[in-house]
Amino acid sequence: MVALALAVTIAACGRSSGIDRRDAARVARGGQLYAAHCAACHGANLEGQPDWRRRLPSGRMPAPPHDDSGHTWHHPDEVLFGITREGLVPGRYAPPGYQSDMPAFGAVLSDDDIRAVLSFIQSRWSQEAWRAREEMLGNRRGG
Ligand code: HEC
Repeated sequence: MVALALAVTIAACGRSSGIDRRDAARVARGGQLYAAHCAACHGANLEGQPDWRRRLPSGRMPAPPHDDSGHTWHHPDEVLFGITREGLVPGRYAPPGYQSDMPAFGAVLSDDDIRAVLSFIQSRWSQEAWRAREEMLGNRRGG
């Protein structure tokens, strides 16, 4: 059983980013991790913070939705993974000098946890969002 699970995991990694919205167990675990680590800012229902397009008094941006109404689905898998793991690193995932309230989760969540959370988020996108994402990203989409 363990060997089988491992083989499947390796196969999944070889083929894609390991982010898989069709893997029900992974999506369920990701949902729990999302509720514990992301929902406080991004919303229990992925709706984001109120008025999320308007800059806060601090000059920083509020947390955007992770559902169709946001722009999470515009980004390729490897960028979503990187932002979650490292935060919005200036010069890499954001313009140089950019300041953000998005925490880095690399010390809190394992890489596999991060893939599970992203599997959960992606499981909530509509077919329309997926179609638009595919058009936008083509083969860079990954999972
Ligand atoms: C303390 C609040 C907070 C928590 C907790 C949080 N985020 Fe964020 N997140 C933000 C903010 C604020 C932004 C927007 C940052 C900006 O534009 O400067 C953001 C942006 C993002 C983005 C980029 C979205 C885009 O379209 O550009 C991703 C991906 C993301 N968060 C994933 C997560 C995940 C996954 C979790 C849970 C593991 C999480 N965040 C937890 C505050 C938070």
